[in-house]
Amino acid sequence: MSTARIAEANQPFASHAFSRNPLKDRDDVVAACASLLDPLEAGFSPERAMVRVGGTGTRFDEIAAQIEGYARPLWGLAPLLAGNSTYANTHLFVQGLISGTDPNSPEFWGNMEDLDQRMVESCPIGFTLAVAGKDFWDPLSATEKDNVAKWIGSMNDKEMPNTNWLWFRVFANLGLKANKAPYSHERIEADMTHLDTFHRGDGWSNDGPEGYTQMDYYSGSYAIQYLQLLYAKLAGDFDPERAAEYRKRAQSYALDFIHYQAPDGHSIPFGRSLTYRFATIAFWSAFAFADVEPPAPLTWGIIKGLLLRNLRWWSAQHHIFQPNGMLNIGYTYPNYYLAENYNSPGSPYWCMLAFAALAQPASHPFWSSTEEAHPFTQPSPAIPAIKALKYPMHIMVHKANHTFLLSSGQKCHYPLKATQAKYGHFAYSSAFGYSVPTGSYTLEQWVPESALALSDDGGELWKMRREVSDAQILEKEDGQPVLYSTMHPWKDVEVKTWLLPPTDGTPAWHLRVHRIHTGRDLQSAEGGFAIYGMASSTGRNLTPLSSSSPNEGTLTEASGALVLSRAGYSGTAELLSSDVTSGRKGGICNVDANSNLIEPRTVLPTMYADLKSGSTTWFVTAVLAVPRSVGDGWREVWGKKPVVPGWVGDLVREG
Ligand SMILES: *[C@@H]1O[C@H](CO)[C@@H](O)[C@H](O)[C@H]1NC(C)=O
Repeated sequence: MSTARIAEANQPFASHAFSRNPLKDRDDVVAACASLLDPLEAGFSPERAMVRVGGTGTRFDEIAAQIEGYARPLWGLAPLLAGNSTYANTHLFVQGLISGTDPNSPEFWGNMEDLDQRMVESCPIGFTLAVAGKDFWDPLSATEKDNVAKWIGSMNDKEMPNTNWLWFRVFANLGLKANKAPYSHERIEADMTHLDTFHRGDGWSNDGPEGYTQMDYYSGSYAIQYLQLLYAKLAGDFDPERAAEYRKRAQSYALDFIHYQAPDGHSIPFGRSLTYRFATIAFWSAFAFADVEPPAPLTWGIIKGLLLRNLRWWSAQHHIFQPNGMLNIGYTYPNYYLAENYNSPGSPYWCMLAFAALAQPASHPFWSSTEEAHPFTQPSPAIPAIKALKYPMHIMVHKANHTFLLSSGQKCHYPLKATQAKYGHFAYSSAFGYSVPTGSYTLEQWVPESALALSDDGGELWKMRREVSDAQILEKEDGQPVLYSTMHPWKDVEVKTWLLPPTDGTPAWHLRVHRIHTGRDLQSAEGGFAIYGMASSTGRNLTPLSSSSPNEGTLTEASGALVLSRAGYSGTAELLSSDVTSGRKGGICNVDANSNLIEPRTVLPTMYADLKSGSTTWFVTAVLAVPRSVGDGWREVWGKKPVVPGWVGDLVREG
């Protein structure tokens, strides 16, 4: 074994039970859920109302942070109990509910204030009361029940953000209703009526009112679709109309959402809150929870495969845990560059949403069906390899074994860390993840991954796409969708961008066309996908390809750059001649450590050009990405660059 392999295999603590779980059937998933709950025992406060998972802070108070540590795991525990499985430490959580809501307890959570983080946690608590009342309500004394109802009820007259949060109050009230405790029917009605205005079409809702352009995992797995499905099941008897509508929305959303899952189980990382990890797949679990009829060509076997393969993908990521077995903040490894200011150490337990299907018995077709492969890998795929989604303005692609998306027009409605990286990138890959900035000095820290970065100060500060005007999906002569958008990083700089999915002749390449008109001198840098940047034999930085290493290393050409490593290969090339592109050149950007979500050590194939004040410049960037493939097949793929489509050539000639 090479020293590099030994270093990789060397682990500071034993692998987690979750990582050793085969995750093939319902019993495995029950065990996986329990294995995530077990380590929390060490974090419980004396009266059990709070769970401490770590030491970092959030924009809200420490009590609310530790209430998250207590409440979020309930997303897994409640369906586990609802499905008649048992869990040894259930009593700790029941005791926590009793003391957290008792105004005379030293661990009283405190009544809710306007815009209180506690509102979020009332949602898993409400859900738990609704599905696991036999454990969490029935054993309580009259006073304890009264306390729970009063604590939850204290949110009914408070101000809430105009977002998916309104769902949390709905569930809080549903939990009371399910146990015949006092609740506010008017509040549920008013909140639901408002939430229904978030729906844009085809099952897609904004995370907020009209005018927001944010459709990420909150639209589906983290909140809106997920909670609609839970509601459809829980409110089926008293609100049959909405329940039917939500089932219909889920069916049409399902046919889009499956394009976010790669055949290996990983979901394409996009948007904020990715430290919720396998919550990205929770929509499918809720689909089973609500027992919605799978829309053709989907089957229960396919849906089961989507959930289980995702869990297995995560079980192979050994660095998602702390030494004590609790989850850490990060993605495949601990990472605070990516974390939001509201990610408390307990917040990753939103991932427990993925366990909703445990409420269904082993006899339910979700569990009893044989797991099926992703339709992408079935002999004649019944879903398209390229699909334009009108509402999120994504073009979904599965070509050359690479599942990714092109994006234009989304942005977060409030100041979010690394917001350009989370919503503004041109492309998001299931294999290569996305990369966030690690600092604010030089390109290596800003990380122009899947972005066009511009600097007017000699390369200290860089701007990348955040806000655009007129984003739209165009359809070109060949029937292929194209994403168009315009950005103005400065008042005197306009960048028009067209994003083109791969064509059949060059399936591993997509194109990004840019027209840049600038009123100031600029440096530009555009990266492809960031890729693992170390040599497999030595573990050291990749070096240029050579006769002793013909298939692993870097390659820089006048008009392109390519990186080959054990993660596959990733390249960028300019297709126009250098007189129209201001002499654009390829290079390898040695981006900062821990900027990428998936691999802590990456490099970035990048195109560079300097633009003069008063100039108009065209770029046609061809981006190559082939996951996991090593060997000499790359020569042919790299040698056969895409052709510039006729309509793009016409645009360039028109100037
Ligand atoms: C759980 O057990 C109860 C009581 O035996 C039964 O009514 C219910 O259907 C069971 N639920 C599941 C999901 O097995």
